Amino acid sequence: MPCTVVVGGFWGDEGKGKIISYLALKDKIDICVRTGSVNAAHTVIHKGKVLKLHLIPSGFVNENCRLLLGAGVNIHIPQLLKEIKETNTGNRLGIDPQCSIIEEKHTIQDRTSSHLKGVIGTTGWGVGPAIEERVRRTAKLAKDIPELKQYLTDVALEVNEVIEKGKKVLIEGVQGLYLSLFHGTYPYVTGRDTSASAVCSEAGVGPTRVDNVLIVFKAYVTRVGGGPLPNELPREEVIRRGWREISGTGRERRAAPFNYELAKRAVMINGATEAAITKLDIVFPECKNARSYEELSPRAKEFIQKIENEIGIPVTLIGVGPGALEIIDRRAK
Ligand code: IMP
Ligand code: MG
Repeated sequence: MPCTVVVGGFWGDEGKGKIISYLALKDKIDICVRTGSVNAAHTVIHKGKVLKLHLIPSGFVNENCRLLLGAGVNIHIPQLLKEIKETNTGNRLGIDPQCSIIEEKHTIQDRTSSHLKGVIGTTGWGVGPAIEERVRRTAKLAKDIPELKQYLTDVALEVNEVIEKGKKVLIEGVQGLYLSLFHGTYPYVTGRDTSASAVCSEAGVGPTRVDNVLIVFKAYVTRVGGGPLPNELPREEVIRRGWREISGTGRERRAAPFNYELAKRAVMINGATEAAITKLDIVFPECKNARSYEELSPRAKEFIQKIENEIGIPVTLIGVGPGALEIIDRRAK
């Protein structure tokens, strides 16, 4: 366990927030490092409240867990300050001085440019334009922002020192492999690579320091925004199956059945060592109250076995309900 990277295997919204919050509590994670940017909200249920976190690491549910934002992160300052307040985590948050800043002009550009708003259908925060600014070498960085001064820390150094000491580090990837700028369905992608290697790079952790790559898949596939979705179901069928979801940006998610081929490729590109399957109870409602693998229905077990056969790695965690602890944990105890 010492250093685990968690990534999404499809188009985001696989349930990474839930899985990470479970691991933070169950495995007593010492440090949780978030990567990416505000576009991706991770949903965490904490003390009965549903939180949509765009920047604070999902490991915050463990009160002893240090929370870090890696140098690759783009920060939306008002959203970060709001989440610090909401989660009351200001005393254990560290921000890399080289995180870049999303400014108001980036948000406006994202929401008005025809190819971003109309064709790709971005989340509208301004992440893509902020990354453009960074690539032009004209971006504002966290170290330039007085409100962030109290949180600044050398994230790469902190994380590597903690890994060296054998403590437990979790690197929180965001979005999913098929939204990757390099490996996704270009041009219908986000502004960054979302694979495990890129996630480590954003945190400042080299590939030899990572022990596990946990890839998260939902029991069906969803996509929000433009771009191909193989075997996409008609809207009425999505509703009939109970798979209808509304995204954080208020848009209806498109849906398709679990895609074994895409899952297999995502495992390959991420170098994944284990997988989590979330929302099994949505596809197999009879599994809602199952608390062990043995209690799953024969149909559900067959589904999990088929996934394992196809992707070639074990399914170690299975989500059977929305709460952080509604998980079947098959890892060796
Ligand atoms: P952007 O990342 O906001 O530029 O959006 C680019 C594309 O990625 C759009 O299709 C978005 O809907 C999608 N996208 C970005 N982040 C997420 C996410 O966290 N979950 C699901 N879709 C996302
Ligand atoms: Mg999400």
